[in-house]
Amino acid sequence: MIFTGSSAHVSAQLSALPLTPACETGSVSTPQQTQGPFYRPNAPQRNDLTADAGSRRRFSLRGFVFDTGCRPVPEAMVEIWHADERGEYDNDGYRWRAYQLTDDAGRWGFDTILTQHYSFRTAHYHIRVQPRGGEVLTTQLYFPDHPRNHGDRLFDPRLVMALDDDRSTGRFDFVVPSL
Ligand SMILES: [Fe+2]
Repeated sequence: MIFTGSSAHVSAQLSALPLTPACETGSVSTPQQTQGPFYRPNAPQRNDLTADAGSRRRFSLRGFVFDTGCRPVPEAMVEIWHADERGEYDNDGYRWRAYQLTDDAGRWGFDTILTQHYSFRTAHYHIRVQPRGGEVLTTQLYFPDHPRNHGDRLFDPRLVMALDDDRSTGRFDFVVPSL
């Protein structure tokens, strides 16, 4: 059992991810982006961040970690941190911060809340991916068609999530260099 946390349905949803995800041999590594000023080390290991969510709108993120040879990367550390529904980070505690390890199929996933834009930034989730023995990939994930995307010089269309029909789940597969 690699995934931990209080939410059994998270693992069930992860298992529902297609087993033959889109990945082509020779795919390129996910682009790096700035870490930004709001990263805090020592986030808790969990995949459900919604304990403090209250009535906030939920949002889930799902995907795989592959290497550039399209092989799934198990036991990669995937970390998330993001602003809340008012565009504010918790810089004193660990709300909206977590990490987990990918499962045997390279799957990752977090249940959290919908983040919001702030100052010059469009809405985004910060992510770090670190394969066992590999380099850290620091990046950010974006929403398709967010009205602030094109006013944000950091926005990168290669880092846009695929949303499900009700826009409550975003899907993104990270690609890291083969070891
Ligand atoms: Fe940010």
